[in-house]
Amino acid sequence: MGLRMKFNFALAGVLLAGMALAGWVVDRRLKANAREEVLREAGLMMEAAIAVRTYTVDQVRPFLAPQMEQRFLPQTVPAYAATETLAALRGTHPGYRYKEAVLNPTNPRDLANGWEVDLVERFRTSAKETEAVGQLDGSRPVLYIARPIRISNGACLQCHSTPAAAPPSMRRIYGDRGGFGWQHGETVGAQVVTVPMEVPLARAQQALQTFMVSLLGVFAALFVVLNLMLSWLIVAPVRRLSVAADRVSTGDFQLPELTARGHDEIATLANSFNRLRRSLEKAMQMLSKH
Ligand code: HEC
Repeated sequence: MGLRMKFNFALAGVLLAGMALAGWVVDRRLKANAREEVLREAGLMMEAAIAVRTYTVDQVRPFLAPQMEQRFLPQTVPAYAATETLAALRGTHPGYRYKEAVLNPTNPRDLANGWEVDLVERFRTSAKETEAVGQLDGSRPVLYIARPIRISNGACLQCHSTPAAAPPSMRRIYGDRGGFGWQHGETVGAQVVTVPMEVPLARAQQALQTFMVSLLGVFAALFVVLNLMLSWLIVAPVRRLSVAADRVSTGDFQLPELTARGHDEIATLANSFNRLRRSLEKAMQMLSKH
């Protein structure tokens, strides 16, 4: 195997290993960033939902309470206000979802289903848990943040304990079927925010591709430049030296002296070779005179 081949094998091995390692590290970092970004967005949505709930209780309900005798206004219900407000996001942010998932809801659209039931059950069994974060890997991966809905305020039970205790105007709209029988201190459901990961993940993928292509470009340039330098500075001069040595060794002194440019090791070797050749030529001449 020639010098260049050995050199290229080693170089290619190092470059490939370097690319694989760099790709792996950067891919992990970018995916983690995408996840953090999605989590931040989901956290913000959760805060927004809580803000809307507070606003409804503090600033809407007091003004509309007098009318509730005749006509029940769901606009005064914090769960309704938060669900409706964040549903408006869906137009501009498809896939972003807020839900107050409850096992026994007043409004059937709030019924917990599938994985949400498991989540609520988890909050019900462990009262200490205040937040859950997770990823759902379907055809479209999503991240969720969930917080338990616990009945910590006795006022809730006015509408959520028994139908008899609830305002008649409310029962006229919602009936008596759901949303009753909740207990003080019970975890009835969970606020769930889901945010799609598709776009940030696609962006991470694209960033990784750009990085890998740039790295490949840099490595390719390095490969070419090192090969050219190896050729010019080492392989070609060594080959010339070897041809000259071959001819001199057979007593052929006709060839011109090697030209050595610069002061590198190869030039020194060529000068030494020229001197060796001259000495040899002189010795041979002296020998042939006798
Ligand atoms: C004045 C009656 C009333 C009071 C008081 C009330 N709620 Fe409700 N609640 C409702 C109605 C009506 C709905 C259904 C709203 C809708 O259509 O989305 C509801 C919905 C909910 C939901 C969404 C799930 C479902 O049942 O549809 C949650 C969670 C909830 N309420 C929690 C509470 C908590 C916690 C309190 C106490 C802080 C409370 N509610 C106090 C009337 C009330």
